[in-house]
Amino acid sequence: MTTAERTAPPDALSVPASRAPGCPFDPAPGITDAARTEPITRATLWDGSACWLVTSHQDVRTVLGDPRFSADAHRPGFPFLTAGAREIVGTSRTFIRMDDPDHARLRRMLTADFMVKKVEAMRPEVQQLADDLLDRMTAGRTSADLVTDFALPLPSLVICLLLGVPYEDHEFFQERSRILLSLRSTPEEVRASQDELVEYLTRLAQAKREKPDDGIVSRLVARGELADADIATMGRLLLVAGHETTANMTALSTLALLRNPDQLARLRAEPALVKGAVEELLRYLTIVHNGVPRIATEDIVVGERTIRAGEGVLCMINSANRDAGVFPDADGLDVARDARRHVAFGFGVHQCLGQPLARVELQIAVETLIRRLPDLRLAVPYEEIPFRDDMAIYGVHSLPIAW
Ligand code: HEM
Repeated sequence: MTTAERTAPPDALSVPASRAPGCPFDPAPGITDAARTEPITRATLWDGSACWLVTSHQDVRTVLGDPRFSADAHRPGFPFLTAGAREIVGTSRTFIRMDDPDHARLRRMLTADFMVKKVEAMRPEVQQLADDLLDRMTAGRTSADLVTDFALPLPSLVICLLLGVPYEDHEFFQERSRILLSLRSTPEEVRASQDELVEYLTRLAQAKREKPDDGIVSRLVARGELADADIATMGRLLLVAGHETTANMTALSTLALLRNPDQLARLRAEPALVKGAVEELLRYLTIVHNGVPRIATEDIVVGERTIRAGEGVLCMINSANRDAGVFPDADGLDVARDARRHVAFGFGVHQCLGQPLARVELQIAVETLIRRLPDLRLAVPYEEIPFRDDMAIYGVHSLPIAW
């Protein structure tokens, strides 16, 4: 490929695109404009390289459903959002950034753990954890930070249980996850956090060899197919993906409902809507807000464009989820809408492995929170809420609430 093809036109949109000015629940204005005017458009990344932004629901599904678009981040030209993101892939390989058959072989080792039936059976346990956290949060208090007291500990406790990771170590892995997901981390910081997490999980895998339990890490050890370091890398993916995503969806969903009091009232009045409401919140908020990356392995026609072999693509699942052709009045939050066609969990073979778990956690978190705190409100002016523009996973850094 020539240098000219690797660079975008001078007026191309830079990604990650800034959300300001605009509604903090909506995709960045630049992405929305691109989706309206040119659904497949050229953009510039942090290192000056170019990639394609794919913004419509149909085109996002086409790209993510086509194995000729590779998820293998080792291919030259793969679109990384930051130098840190490139560092993560350079230092350890996980199946989210591999193609089949390797991807399928590794993912298959985990499918039974995240099957709907298996995860649905965890409902009573997740409900108990949610209730315990809310008991502790509300005891003798009338305000708290929802992120630290509820939204973050709930999925962290659950993924620790599933993996067999001691929850006492949560500050250690939450801080490393934060560094891995920050768009501002330097490659050195990312590498250090990554190494520390993998070392920690390698030691854990070794310990499970001596003293097995029924967690995922222990069972991967017992299979005898993977080296401890590979189990640790897989554990790192699950640990980070398993708590940051659901935590941010919980806090951002709470804020979105507080900002849409008619929708909150409807959900309170009809709690049976919660399953659909969670799908709608996933669609409306799409916290994987900077695109799902792929690279073309041959020349491929998508919509009216030909994407050339070696060109990077970011599938903007946030704008796909606001595609008015699929979701009428797409920019509105409607807890009673059928949002099941959303692509917040991705699409195709890499579609989120943890989605049944995320659904159970979110349904329980939202339902329990609004049922137990009928007077739930923000404890600070809305303008003071710190949104996570600086993170790969969107949400809020904190959410001061009162009841
Ligand atoms: C993949 C979103 C929760 C584990 C993905 C992808 C998205 C996503 C968009 C596709 C990435 C791609 O195609 O490149 C979310 C959201 C969540 C969530 C929005 C919560 C609201 C979870 C949880 C886990 C998890 C709770 C549990 C461990 C994974 C894994 C993959 C993945 C392992 C890689 C799957 C593969 O490559 O085959 N997720 N996720 N996620 N997610 Fe999630």
